[in-house]
Amino acid sequence: MKKIIASNFKCNHTRASTSEFCVNLANFLTQDSIKTSNKILQKCEIFLFPSSIALLENNNKNFTIGAQNAFFAQNGGFTGEIGTDHLAEFKIKTIIIGHSERRQILGENQEFCAKKFEFFKNLGFKIFYCIGENEEVQERGDSAVLDFLKSELVGIDLNYSNLILAYEPIWAIGTGKVANLTQIEQTHKALKALAPNVPLLYGGSVKAQNIAEILNIKEVDGTLIGSASWEFSSFKAILENAAKI
Ligand code: PGA
Repeated sequence: MKKIIASNFKCNHTRASTSEFCVNLANFLTQDSIKTSNKILQKCEIFLFPSSIALLENNNKNFTIGAQNAFFAQNGGFTGEIGTDHLAEFKIKTIIIGHSERRQILGENQEFCAKKFEFFKNLGFKIFYCIGENEEVQERGDSAVLDFLKSELVGIDLNYSNLILAYEPIWAIGTGKVANLTQIEQTHKALKALAPNVPLLYGGSVKAQNIAEILNIKEVDGTLIGSASWEFSSFKAILENAAKI
C-alpha cells in the first residue's frame, strides 16, 4: 500500500505562494527527475491542505488538494466559514476534521467534530480525522492516552471507507519534540486494534530527517506534516526520503 504524505499549511501561505508551491510540486513530480518522481508516485499518495482563501482547483493527477476546514452546510449564515458550495467550485472532496488546533483554539468539541464528520461522510468526502492527547494525559501513561483517544472517536464511524485517521500527540505538534518510535508504534498498535482497516497516519514534528524511520513502523500508513512541509525544498526532501523506504 502507498504511504500517505499530507501537508497541512495551517494559517500559512497566501494565494500566490500556495500556487507557486503547487506549480513547483507539479513540475517536480513530472519533470525534474523522472526516476525520483516515478519512485515517489509509486510509493506515496500526496495531499496538500492550503488555507481556505488559497484553495486551488483539485485537478492534478499526482496530488490531491483538500480543505483544512469547512462548515457542515452547503452555504448559509455561518460568518467566517466556508461551505460545500465553495469546496465544489474547486472540486475538493477531502477535508481535515478534528485537528487539535481547532479543538483547542477554536473550541470545537467532540459533539461538533462528530456532527461535521457525519455531514461530510454522507457526502462521500475523504476525511482526515485527527486525534491526539496533550502532555498532561501523556504523563498519566498508556491507558490514559488510549482512553483519551477513544473519547475523541465518540460518534465517528470507524467503518467509513473513506476515513483516514491521524494520530497527532499535541505535545509533538510544532514543538520539534517528536514522539519516540516505541511510543508511536504502541499507540498505533492500540488504534489499529480499534480500526484495523483504516489508514493511520502519525503527525507531530515530522520532517525530512525523521520521516523514513517513522514510516518504517509497520502500523504507520503515512504522515500528516505541518511546519516542515511549508518550504517547498523541505517538502521535496520529505518526499524523496519517504520514497526511499
Ligand atoms: P507539525 O504539525 O508537523 O508542525 O508538528 C503537524 C500537524 O499539526 O498536523
